[in-house]
Amino acid sequence: MFEYDKDITSLTTFGIPAKARIFAEYDSLKQLERISRSPEFLDNEVFHMGGGSNLLFVNDFDGLLLHSAIRGIVRYDKNEDTVFAIAGAGEKWTDFVNWCVDEGLAGVENLAGIPGEVGAAPVQNVGAYGAEAKDVIHHVECFDSHTRKVVTFTNEECRFGYRDSMFKHEGKGRYFVLRVSFRLKNSSKASNLTYGPLKALAERIGHTPTIREVADEVTAIRNAKLPDPAVIGSAGSFFKNPVVTKYFYEEGIKALSPDVPCYPAGEHHVKLAAGWLIEHAGLKGKRIGGAEVYPNQCLVIANEGGASAEDVVNLSELIIDTVRRKYAVILEPEVNFIDTRITVTILGSGTSKGVPEVGCACRICRSESPLDKRQRASALVRTHGLNLLLDVSPDFRAQALQNNIYRLDAALITHSHYDHVGGIDDLRPFCGQQDLSIYLKKDVSDDLHKRLDYCFRPHPYPGVPKFDLHEVSTQPFYINGLKIIPITVMHGKLPILGYRIGDFAYITDAKTIPEEEMVKLRGLKALVLNALRDREHFAHLSFSEALELIDRLKPEQAYLTHFNHEAGLHTEIEKRLPDNVHPAYDGLTFTV
Ligand code: EPU
Repeated sequence: MFEYDKDITSLTTFGIPAKARIFAEYDSLKQLERISRSPEFLDNEVFHMGGGSNLLFVNDFDGLLLHSAIRGIVRYDKNEDTVFAIAGAGEKWTDFVNWCVDEGLAGVENLAGIPGEVGAAPVQNVGAYGAEAKDVIHHVECFDSHTRKVVTFTNEECRFGYRDSMFKHEGKGRYFVLRVSFRLKNSSKASNLTYGPLKALAERIGHTPTIREVADEVTAIRNAKLPDPAVIGSAGSFFKNPVVTKYFYEEGIKALSPDVPCYPAGEHHVKLAAGWLIEHAGLKGKRIGGAEVYPNQCLVIANEGGASAEDVVNLSELIIDTVRRKYAVILEPEVNFIDTRITVTILGSGTSKGVPEVGCACRICRSESPLDKRQRASALVRTHGLNLLLDVSPDFRAQALQNNIYRLDAALITHSHYDHVGGIDDLRPFCGQQDLSIYLKKDVSDDLHKRLDYCFRPHPYPGVPKFDLHEVSTQPFYINGLKIIPITVMHGKLPILGYRIGDFAYITDAKTIPEEEMVKLRGLKALVLNALRDREHFAHLSFSEALELIDRLKPEQAYLTHFNHEAGLHTEIEKRLPDNVHPAYDGLTFTV
């Protein structure tokens, strides 16, 4: 059932070399149930892939990679007009569209030629040429890997959005699609001609095109614009088309380039053509290693031969940066980055007053070394394509600018002391279309409701930051399928939280850690831990107390943070610490 060290290069349309430590393919529910009870499943990170047409393995996958081979398409005629087609998740999407066209069923013809499998259609809400999978999906049958039961989601319960669904958020890693039911029209006449070139087709041929004519036209347009996956590796559109406010479009974008194509996206927003922005930022044909901005459709990054994941990541970062500088638009990847590495950036390593302290003339505060300039404590964690902020210090705005932070998926708060939450109002630029998720304890949530009451009123002033507060306990919780383990630590008498993500943990403002929570910190590759200074403090660990804790927990590496000026010069602290313990500094980045 399981294959080990499996070469998965050919399982993605990008064709970028990668391996999975464990791989399993199943073709029945029974097999999947058996897999879900195995140690391979229970003791490892699990990722379920589809046709691999929207995936980039940034590194080898160090866990269990699953793939469905559940096939078969059945047809249920509801009445003369309506037919349900139920397809197995492992069916190729193009085979399914061809089957519908052959059967004379309208609804998916605009989606002809899209690589991938049926199981991914609801996850990604695949779309093209004026149609989206959500227009025809009736329900989705899934295996719930938490309860090991089969569950069915209606179209509404899937909460479809533009290239989005609940399967990408709270359902990620939990539900595995078994079958998808599509509600189609029993007709060979095309059902959706809203897309300009399809309207033009109707005019050209002088009648409403058949579904076969539309499928052929769409395939011809795709072939002209997009690379053939059999010849050139790619993941289709690499970025989403960005949605911006009408105000930003009128006052910003249009002033820069009046001819940028845009499409309606609700009452107050418009969707911009990312391909156009990339082309007009001068990146057409731009290459890094074997990765290229595909000249016929700049929204695509092509593997022109021998591209490494690093080439693709570097090129995508260059694109994001160039478009941001020219148009102030932040492109968001549509491709799913499978990146099990955890990259941590210390944004601030200072205590509540920061270092230097305002008005202090001590030796440390007078140091000119950038290593001795410590903003209030906070960190950014990047993993699995997510950007997570640990605490929002009053210095957050400067930290975001200094560290090029343009996208955040969530903030995780340790406690509500001002030096850890004082920058929350500055999260405004990150609360765009969706409210920004903040994970915090109930007492912190209560405090924020009082302090930032203007954000939580029934009719808030327009422009205030919009948050989605998630109260957490000591139980693990998931952000887009990523497991986060909260750890209770004592800040003097105040119980606060630290967080463990994979083999990394961030603990700040601890004085002691209850024994029952210590087990959550075993086997770490990297630990960030607070150490204020040599002198004892009633609510913060001193150097010797922090080193004692590190000695008990035995992480491979530890970084001390939350220093005040009495801690000494950075170079002095470094010298006195054991080999595997280092002082953090603002801007320090390490990968676990
Ligand atoms: N454009 C440029 N330069 C480019 C690319 C596009 O100027 O390099 C302009 C086009 O001339 C047009 C506009 O941008 O005015 C939009 O281009 P296009 O119609 O090709 O569509 P798109 O918005 O770039 C989206 C989907 C595609 C889908 C097409 C057709 C996303 C992220 N992409 O691309 O989906 O095929 O519409 O409906 O929404 C995919 O998801 O993998 C995919 C290929």
